Amino acid sequence: MKRDSFSGRFGIIAAAAGSAIGLGNIWRFPYLCGQNGGAAFVLVYLFCIILIGLPIMLAEFSIGRRAQSNAYRAFRILSPGRPWYLIGVLGIVAAFAILSFYSAVGGWTIEYIFRSISGGISSNPTEQFESFTTDSYLPLLHQFLFLALSLGIVMIGVKKGIERSSKILMPLLLVLLIVLCIRAVTLPGASEGLKFLLKPDFSKLTGDSILLAMGQAFFSLSLGMGCLITYGSYVRRNEDLTSAAGMIAGADTLIALLAGVAIFPAAAAFHIEPDSGPGLVFITLPGMFRQMAGGMIFSTFFFILLCIAALTSAISLLEVVVSFCVEEMHLRRGRATALVAVCVFLPGALCSLSLGIVPGLQLFGKSFFDLMDFTSSNLLLPVGGFFISIYAGWILKKHITVRELTSYGAKKFSCLRVFFFLIRYLVPAAILVVFISGLIRN
Ligand code: PHE
Repeated sequence: MKRDSFSGRFGIIAAAAGSAIGLGNIWRFPYLCGQNGGAAFVLVYLFCIILIGLPIMLAEFSIGRRAQSNAYRAFRILSPGRPWYLIGVLGIVAAFAILSFYSAVGGWTIEYIFRSISGGISSNPTEQFESFTTDSYLPLLHQFLFLALSLGIVMIGVKKGIERSSKILMPLLLVLLIVLCIRAVTLPGASEGLKFLLKPDFSKLTGDSILLAMGQAFFSLSLGMGCLITYGSYVRRNEDLTSAAGMIAGADTLIALLAGVAIFPAAAAFHIEPDSGPGLVFITLPGMFRQMAGGMIFSTFFFILLCIAALTSAISLLEVVVSFCVEEMHLRRGRATALVAVCVFLPGALCSLSLGIVPGLQLFGKSFFDLMDFTSSNLLLPVGGFFISIYAGWILKKHITVRELTSYGAKKFSCLRVFFFLIRYLVPAAILVVFISGLIRN
């Protein structure tokens, strides 16, 4: 079967950035940052992106392009008869876990689009958010809509669907965020919020917040679950993987930081606690939109773009499972996509309901939603990342990785030695230390 491929460099950057940039940057990063002390968390997060995230991203791209297949098959091709393909299996489990709560939050963005259009953002956004997310059927309906939209795009296929939707809309999101930042920092009382984001208070940093920052780096860059292995397999041989990875990580981090600059000053101005949890962006920004000239227009645009950013990420999650079903189980693409979406809706509905009408839906003291959110990013993705780093550092022949990173000798990659040091020693050691210290604490 001929594999679809991205058209050129901008294609892969746009598509992988589309996967990376999503609710992770605008919804998850600010709420975690708010709960974990602000600036100190940001610093740890940045370290994790550069020292752990970037090397793993390069490793995933190299494995994918070398093997030219989905994550599961990639390991079977590169190391036949060995259990490394379990990394691919882990990725599929992670994709289901993430999609279940991701689609719930994606549904919230759709609800907020409708609200913005109809002028229905209330003067008490906190109460409004809570009453919506705890409603009996509305969150489910919107979650369903969100999944149906992602399904539609994945069905159309890689090139037309994923690439086209990312190319135009991500730059637009960036521009809008900058406008929102300018508005936020000029609100009266905004400086407290900026201080929270920029002035580190290391006494607030705990072992748990380091684990959360690392998990967020994995989540935000879409690492540790074979997503970028699959995307790497669509990249042509002559494309430069290293500069693409740098740009993707850079764009992803920029968007997350801008989201912080838009949200914390606004939160300070409206006396909303930064540690308000998963509702943070849905509470602070609507408050700000109400005070802006043309706020409803900004609000509509913002939630449309946020929804699209979420869609391009959800698509990449679906794609991991769909490419497995198509290539390993020989299902037709359309059927595979529909099947996966239906299977996601079940745990997804549990996530939505666990916040509202079925509060008893708890495990280990967490709601089902929090449990999926927590375990996927802080357990499944780092475990996947750990094994990917061991695989790329110690198992895959070095000259193969070098060839991929230098585009078959056509490009120079001056950080090769640094890369191998990080992927062999620092990345696996850092993940282990963060994990073991977590185990000891609990
Ligand atoms: N990176 C995406 C985001 O920030 C979420 C995601 C995680 C997508 C893992 C794919 C794989 O929203």
